[in-house]
Amino acid sequence: MILEIINKKRLGYELSYSELDYFFNGYLNGEIADYQMSSLLMAICINGMSDEEIFSLTKIFIDSGDTLDFSDILGIKVDKHSTGGIGDKTTLVIAPIVASLGVPVVKMSGRGLGYTGGTIDKLESITGFRVDLSDEEIIEQVKKINLVVTGQTADLVPMDKVIYALRDVTGTVSSIPLIASSVMSKKIASGADKILIDIKVGNGALLQKKEDAKKLSELMIKIGEVYHKEVRTVISDMNTPLGKTIGNSLEVLEAINVLKGREKDNSFVELCYDLATDMVSMGKEISKGAAHNLVLESIKSGSAYKKFLEMVGMQGGDIAKIKVSDNTFKIKSPVSGKIKKINALELGKLALALGAGKINKNDKIDYSVGIKLNKLLGDSVKKGEVLATIYYNKKEIEFDFDSIFKIN
Ligand code: URA
Repeated sequence: MILEIINKKRLGYELSYSELDYFFNGYLNGEIADYQMSSLLMAICINGMSDEEIFSLTKIFIDSGDTLDFSDILGIKVDKHSTGGIGDKTTLVIAPIVASLGVPVVKMSGRGLGYTGGTIDKLESITGFRVDLSDEEIIEQVKKINLVVTGQTADLVPMDKVIYALRDVTGTVSSIPLIASSVMSKKIASGADKILIDIKVGNGALLQKKEDAKKLSELMIKIGEVYHKEVRTVISDMNTPLGKTIGNSLEVLEAINVLKGREKDNSFVELCYDLATDMVSMGKEISKGAAHNLVLESIKSGSAYKKFLEMVGMQGGDIAKIKVSDNTFKIKSPVSGKIKKINALELGKLALALGAGKINKNDKIDYSVGIKLNKLLGDSVKKGEVLATIYYNKKEIEFDFDSIFKIN
């Protein structure tokens, strides 16, 4: 049966619900080996899946664990997910904005993956901040302050945890059907009424082509229809890192600046406002124009930042203790000109080498290191001006200037 299923997919045929169920649950239960699952995943990666197969797989993922029920929390719960990128700290900004406007936000976030950072790692750079809330604590907190950002509970889609770990090391991360079922199963199992997905495209993302991002978007919307959930998607660029910082503490500090209204007119701030606008418009069932005004007002009035502080306080964190390394190295421009490229992937690799993420499973993250961009894409720069500052603790760090910056 195992070989028949692998061969069927290898030859491009469609697998039935019971074949997928047998194989994936067999893997979860330890009856199917890593090498057999890897082989099927690669066949899926190469030959794709029909919509029916993807719906089946999503259901198998959801049914592998508990489904959270937040129906006794008043209001439309809107969840958001990003497919992952370099410097992507949007959740830290938009969740408090949306919650401060009366839309309940229960956000279960993940850890870093490959070169991309995870929201949970970023939040853990706030000393004391708890990311392991129980279902009861989540419900109590959202009822009190409308906002929780925490890690995924152990029982939420356990199938995704094992499959993702295997995909990460078998070159099968970028499969559209596998991304769709991974993301959508978690969003549906975590009890959201409506879902907003930020699909990243570019060299620092899982998908490199806009057509693939569009396909993923269509698929996610279709999966949402099966579960009667409104799904909206935004496709956003990940050739350039998001915002001015990469690295856990630095990113939290940048998010705080955005919430305080101190950062304006850059593409990261605009993306945050756009995503928050969508979530507010979905949660309050109002037009995007009306939602956008509310979003701007929540920053101006300070209510979004106040909401962030409430969440940090309730989850045991202390923002006064966010630590950034004292060791800095400034990258200066060798020429005068305009910044034509800031390579997200290369900066992601550099952040990882600094210790901002894990290279091996058992590595410890150094929250205090990372990179701050002193100049952004399109800025003019004079010879000798600082382009970026590296915050480091390790003694030897190498980087290739020309693969990161293009100036002319
Ligand atoms: N994020 C997820 O949760 N799953 C994927 O497969 C890709 C991005």
